[in-house]
Amino acid sequence: MGDTSEHTTSCLLGKSTMNDYNSQHRFDIHRDRDREIADSAEEDNNDVMMDHEEQLRMSEDDHIDEEAYESEWSEESEEDVDPVVQEDMDKFQATFKGIKDRFRLINRIGEGTFSTVYKAEDLNYDIFYNDWDLEENEKNEQFRWAAPGQKHGREALPLNRRRPKIVAIKQIYVTSSPNRILNELDLLNDLRGCVAVCPLITAYRHTDQVVAVLPYFKHTDFREYFRKMTIDDCKIYFRSLFTALAAVHERGILHRDIKPTNFLYEPSKRRGVLVDFGLAEREGTDCKPCACTQSERERARHFRNSAAHFNGPSQGYPKNDSRPSRRANRAGTRGFRAPEVLFKCTEQTTKIDIWSVGVILLTIMSKRFPFFNSADDVEAMIEIATVKGTKAMKQCALLHGTVFETNIPTIGQQGFSLEKIILWSTCRDEKDDKEGEGEGALTEDEQCAVRFLNRCLEWDPARRISAREALRHEFLRVGEASDHEMIEEDDELDMI
Ligand SMILES: Nc1ncnc2c1ncn2[C@@H]1O[C@H](COP(=O)(O)OP(=O)(O)O)[C@@H](O)[C@H]1O
Ligand SMILES: [Mg+2]
Repeated sequence: MGDTSEHTTSCLLGKSTMNDYNSQHRFDIHRDRDREIADSAEEDNNDVMMDHEEQLRMSEDDHIDEEAYESEWSEESEEDVDPVVQEDMDKFQATFKGIKDRFRLINRIGEGTFSTVYKAEDLNYDIFYNDWDLEENEKNEQFRWAAPGQKHGREALPLNRRRPKIVAIKQIYVTSSPNRILNELDLLNDLRGCVAVCPLITAYRHTDQVVAVLPYFKHTDFREYFRKMTIDDCKIYFRSLFTALAAVHERGILHRDIKPTNFLYEPSKRRGVLVDFGLAEREGTDCKPCACTQSERERARHFRNSAAHFNGPSQGYPKNDSRPSRRANRAGTRGFRAPEVLFKCTEQTTKIDIWSVGVILLTIMSKRFPFFNSADDVEAMIEIATVKGTKAMKQCALLHGTVFETNIPTIGQQGFSLEKIILWSTCRDEKDDKEGEGEGALTEDEQCAVRFLNRCLEWDPARRISAREALRHEFLRVGEASDHEMIEEDDELDMI
């Protein structure tokens, strides 16, 4: 590793060694710890090597386990790496000092607007306290509860017979502002220990580059499974997502970018984990009073005095409007933004995430992805108005102290019921089905899902269901999974 005095790599969040575990749960940007890590690595590695030799001897009697372990690992280790990706990884390892001593990059797993994410082997796994390692923790739980006399105790199993530990390294682009990077790490740190939320293992900085190290979660591309999802699959998926959101919201944090690519789900394991707190913020950040928190009377009085009320839409709008433009956080992904985000509500709440979850459920039930596909916010409003109708959309605009007008003839007053939209988009026919029992009609279970969907897609955030309430809703309550069970094309983003 060379002389530490030359190192500019900083460990932003110390990974805890076994000894300093208790002192490492604060979030702290501190000095270069390379020397410390290198020293302890050397000491501990000796132990590790001894263990390993001992285990190799022990393992000769135990072929079955070994095979299982290898076959699982080989699947992940022998990946075909695109030459361009390999070049990027080599460059990253060469320029980010110290990274190759800690991790072996395997492949690129994600590329978003703000980061590139690599799959990597954690070379120093055995030096550190790995409370983030759910798999290992689960195994330990199992061993702890093994009946007396059974030879399954922790000590009976060779420690190093596990497969190499895989992590995800999120390389945050240098174009991201330091505040934004700090915000993401800070929030992740606060969310440690929340079920179904991806924990942060540690973070490093080298000059202007920052990487976050996260446990690797195997997951399948949403587009590969969403059309095949049954209602029961949906219940598991959304219980997991709402469990994560309930924890995030209870800490007063808005995720702001809920969408399938930020919820890593593995259908075969029926486990999901929420990632990407790059746009997340604490409730109340940069808030100014919005009409939506006024009483109805106050809001009505305000509207009666407004230019929109006096002039009416037919008069048009002033060419040179001297009023300052309305500013609000609109960060998020098109198609998933709640109406209050589009109307630039200045007091946005955690309910914006619930709307986005509703859009995911609508996508699954309608088997259309992306369901909303607008080029900008005005188009996004038109899309929502088409579904909800102009009446609701106008009420929604007024709630946030603004007006919505359209003369597009295809947008009706009442919009369409979600049930109708789902039937149309899945080409199901309910004709002659007055009793709701025909082949095309929604099943009982689907109707329950639609009732739930209506609660997620309420235009008034105050009436929209909360994550905690969602977990108690009949749709998610049925066949309730235990908490234990639940642990287990990127779009444009913009910010005003
Ligand atoms: N912990 C992880 N395990 C496995 N894959 C991950 C992990 N974190 C991120 N990814 C992959 O990388 C992609 C981008 O990561 P994300 O945190 O969403 O960054 P961005 O801000 O660039 O969107 C994700 O959609 C996912 O495919
Ligand atoms: Mg993302």
